[in-house]
Amino acid sequence: MRRLVLCTGNQGKVAELKALLPATFELLGATTVGLPTELPETGTTLEANAMEKARYAFDRCGLPCIADDTGLEVDALGGAPGVYSARYAGPQRDPKANMARLLMELEGKERAARFRTVIALIDEQGALTVEGVVRGSIAGAPRGRGGFGYDPVFVPEGWDRSFAEMDLAAKNAISHRRRAVDALVAKLATRYR
Ligand code: IMP
Repeated sequence: MRRLVLCTGNQGKVAELKALLPATFELLGATTVGLPTELPETGTTLEANAMEKARYAFDRCGLPCIADDTGLEVDALGGAPGVYSARYAGPQRDPKANMARLLMELEGKERAARFRTVIALIDEQGALTVEGVVRGSIAGAPRGRGGFGYDPVFVPEGWDRSFAEMDLAAKNAISHRRRAVDALVAKLATRYR
């Protein structure tokens, strides 16, 4: 068994990744190896933040570590809110306020957008990042009760429902996070043959 540490306090992320990893990997949560669940995130890109968290963890536990960061990148806003998605409307990290600000900024503008997840892996062989992207558009108003974050205003390409109107399995089959995890699993297969 090859042990991998996922640097998150979010048990949903641990469960999602566990289900996708080959059985030869044992996935450990941050707290299992004595790490805090909130790791430093001071970068100005998703790559830098994911790498910072993975580096922090690897330097302390010495096991292969993975960490992720996600942002909503809107074309007409030059890629904003991007790495600042969680705090777009202020430090309270309120999803409703974040969506309200986004809808206000987009009045009269093009609505094309994408979610992007970056996953960093650091082990004794070095560091790498992979990404997963789902393109779509920003709805005129929030729709649906499922999901979290910006899901009620994001309509993925090829669908006429927002992520919050889709069932979780349908969202997870095409999501940015799923695509990043698939890219990571492919890298792991060649790295640990
Ligand atoms: P994190 O990197 O997972 O902490 O996410 C950063 C920001 O993007 C937070 O505001 C999340 O709510 C938002 N976010 C991340 N993934 C999703 C998603 O799948 N749907 C909607 N919002 C998301």
